[in-house]
Amino acid sequence: MPIVDDDPLDQKRKKIFSVAPLPRDGPLHGYLYVVLEGATQDDIAQMLQRDYLKPLGLWVIAGGALVAILGGLLTFAALTRRMKRLSIALDAFQRNDFASPQGLLPLPANPAGDEIDRLTAAFNQMASRLTAHMQALQQTDQLRQEFLANVSHDLRTPLAALRGYLETLLLKEGTLSPQEQHNYLEIATKQSERLTIMVSKLFELAKLNTKQVTLNRESFQLGDLVEDVVQKFQLSAEKRSLELYTDVPENDPFVFADIGLIERVLENLIENAMRYTPPGGKIGLIMTVEPQHVMLQVTDTGSGIVGEDLPHVFDRFYRGGRTQDQDSGNAGLGLAIVKSILSLHGTDVTVTSSKGRGTTFSFKLPTTSAMA
Ligand SMILES: Nc1ncnc2c1ncn2[C@@H]1O[C@H](COP(=O)(O)OP(=O)(O)OP(=O)(O)O)[C@@H](O)[C@H]1O
Ligand SMILES: [Mg+2]
Repeated sequence: MPIVDDDPLDQKRKKIFSVAPLPRDGPLHGYLYVVLEGATQDDIAQMLQRDYLKPLGLWVIAGGALVAILGGLLTFAALTRRMKRLSIALDAFQRNDFASPQGLLPLPANPAGDEIDRLTAAFNQMASRLTAHMQALQQTDQLRQEFLANVSHDLRTPLAALRGYLETLLLKEGTLSPQEQHNYLEIATKQSERLTIMVSKLFELAKLNTKQVTLNRESFQLGDLVEDVVQKFQLSAEKRSLELYTDVPENDPFVFADIGLIERVLENLIENAMRYTPPGGKIGLIMTVEPQHVMLQVTDTGSGIVGEDLPHVFDRFYRGGRTQDQDSGNAGLGLAIVKSILSLHGTDVTVTSSKGRGTTFSFKLPTTSAMA
């Protein structure tokens, strides 16, 4: 009977064939397979397959090429779109005078992504750095303008007074009594002294702020310096009925700082304490030793500083607006100088005060052993 089963010639295929055992009777020697038109069928099948495959192959190639072209175009579009966005952002940033890159470019989701992602990330980083620099420059420029305005105002006042008195002396020459002449000359001299002090303070601060000062650090005992500086002010303190005292521990550790500049800090703080403490008051320089630092406090029983002035006393030209006479002759530079000097030393100055009770300025200096 014809059956469908494994092809006797190729067991991977199925074929229709008839099969009988050989011989029919007796011991079995083998099988007789009869496959009708087996070889012809195979030829036809192969031919059909070849003819069928050829166009199929062409279709596959064409389809593949189409997919590849489409894919390429899409990838190209994706790449150029991002590049175009980047170039638009760059143009806008440039037109904006490098002022603000914000909102121009969304940060790429994956900064560790492909080259364009990394390029965008680098652009964003560069843009925000440039913006920060530009803002700092603009701020410095504004500060410089304010500084110039303040300087010219502060110099003009004593200069105008000086000129006024000298002109009066010239105009009224011969008509003024010797006492009047003496008074006028005294005032003119005071104004010129005021000018000299102001100009030298301005130079000092300008030098400190432009970092033209290089620290000349050395090891010294702050206690000794405190005693020396206090000695210089003792006479004028007595004249103003002020008690100027020190409280320095024995054998205080050496500090590592610029002795000349720290002397300027002490002078400015003592000058202030004396200026703003009425007669009968006390001014103390108190030193405390800490493990890595030495702390110095300059404390007075003077007028104190009101709360709203306190955060500004270290600003240059700030003279505690409401309480002090603007033309008192003080430049409002002393504490700015103190702060700049201490900041060059990597340390800071702090202030506590209560109105009518007194003020304390404190700063710390590192000990030489802590710096080693
Ligand atoms: N010990 C103090 N007691 C009360 N007020 C003070 C004291 N020290 C500073 N001030 C206030 O802080 C302001 C700023 O002080 P700063 O030393 O900078 O300037 P100044 O003393 O006015 O002028 P300059 O020191 O340049 O001659 C002062 O004008 C004053 O109002
Ligand atoms: Mg001062």
